[in-house]
Amino acid sequence: MERVVVVGLGYVGLPLAQAAVLSGLEVTGLDLNNEIVSGLTAGRSHIDDLSDFEINEMLDKGFRATTDSSCIRQADVIVVCVPTPLSAEGGPDLGAVISATNSVSENLSAGSLVILESTTYPGTTEEIVLPILEKSGLSLGEFELAFSPERIDPGNQVFGMTNTPKVVGGVNTKSGDSAVQFYSKFVDSVIRAKGAKEAEMAKLLENTYRHVNIALMNELVEFSNLLEIDLWNAIDCAATKPFGFQAFYPGPGVGGHCIPIDPNYLAHHIKSVLGRPFKFVELAQEINQSMPAYVVSRIQDALNDQGKALKHSKILLLGVTYKANIADQRESPVRPLARELLAKGADIRFIDPFVESWNVDSEHGNHEGDRILNCVTDLDQEISEADIVVLLQNHKNFDLSSLVAKAKLILDTRGVLEGINVIKL
Ligand SMILES: NC(=O)c1ccc[n+]([C@@H]2O[C@H](COP(=O)([O-])OP(=O)(O)OC[C@H]3O[C@@H](n4cnc5c(N)ncnc54)[C@H](O)[C@@H]3O)[C@@H](O)[C@H]2O)c1
Repeated sequence: MERVVVVGLGYVGLPLAQAAVLSGLEVTGLDLNNEIVSGLTAGRSHIDDLSDFEINEMLDKGFRATTDSSCIRQADVIVVCVPTPLSAEGGPDLGAVISATNSVSENLSAGSLVILESTTYPGTTEEIVLPILEKSGLSLGEFELAFSPERIDPGNQVFGMTNTPKVVGGVNTKSGDSAVQFYSKFVDSVIRAKGAKEAEMAKLLENTYRHVNIALMNELVEFSNLLEIDLWNAIDCAATKPFGFQAFYPGPGVGGHCIPIDPNYLAHHIKSVLGRPFKFVELAQEINQSMPAYVVSRIQDALNDQGKALKHSKILLLGVTYKANIADQRESPVRPLARELLAKGADIRFIDPFVESWNVDSEHGNHEGDRILNCVTDLDQEISEADIVVLLQNHKNFDLSSLVAKAKLILDTRGVLEGINVIKL
């Protein structure tokens, strides 16, 4: 039986480990984080997409989690799924990829296949990962190396690991062949890229495409408001064209691990190698980042029309996560939005079925002086008492008709509400 080690047991690594273990492979999960490893060992999930029941099912099938990198020595396949954030200067931070690759290199055995799944700029697998692996004393050919971008969509009930086509690119033909063979064991459709660079580029292309098209809608929503056009209705009409159009929607900004971060990897790479700006990405970044402030200006205008000042107004924020129906708050645009409301003296509260307590100032732990809000408990009372309710995330358990019936005034940033008390973004 093939032995697999998944390095990094987060939103990407854990579903991959699940799919591999359910297909009958022997899977070990390696993570630096003791808490995550002991939680998983005790059958507790720390990500939205997997339940405790599913973790227990994995454990029953032989999955084990560890912090000990010596497990790599016995592995036939090692898949690296560690984070690729931005550095303080806004460029790629490959620290976790480099440190995980060092652990792999120190324990690499001849005949193993190493696959990088972390999103990164084209060239990383060949120019960064390969030389580190060769420090093991083994050369390419004695081990194999490929890149395969992750396409996890947290909260997606339809597309998961096995039914989402998987792109794979090897640094040489043999590596590509082996990686296709590996994923074919638990993914229905595996697509072979020409090489690792093309596979790396494919991932950044997917995310940059979303980033730019969301920015297009976000720029257009401001103009549509001034021209008194319902942009959501226009998008729905355009989307009836059976070819040549894909619907994207405006909103309060972009969040998550991918859209606000990955296009920067590409833009930074193009700038550092070619010395040229990636103008589309820069513009999209500027527009998407301006959305929280735009929403604040629309709240202010809406209150002003009622003869109220933003200062001391009661504002109820509905949904603080970065996307609907999940608890993930990473890079959520609601944080900068809330901070600006607080800076202007507003009295803010929030409701989110996925978040009990919300740190407005930091997404990485609580620090002294951080403003921490608790999710309101009396929903109906808060809705009717708020000077304005702002729908930021359309979680499926929000009762939208009751919201429209009870609220004095609503700013709808998702284009899902109708009513005389509703203002669309
Ligand atoms: N979350 C998504 O929706 C998504 C989708 C597609 C692609 N990606 C990409 O996949 C990669 C992983 O993202 P994620 O969301 O799973 O991250 P995550 O933060 O959820 O999980 C990463 C895990 O890696 C562990 N880790 C960090 N350094 C390590 C090391 N040196 N050795 C062992 N473990 C280490 C962390 O403790 C953490 O548990 C990123 O490159 C991301 O851009 C994420």
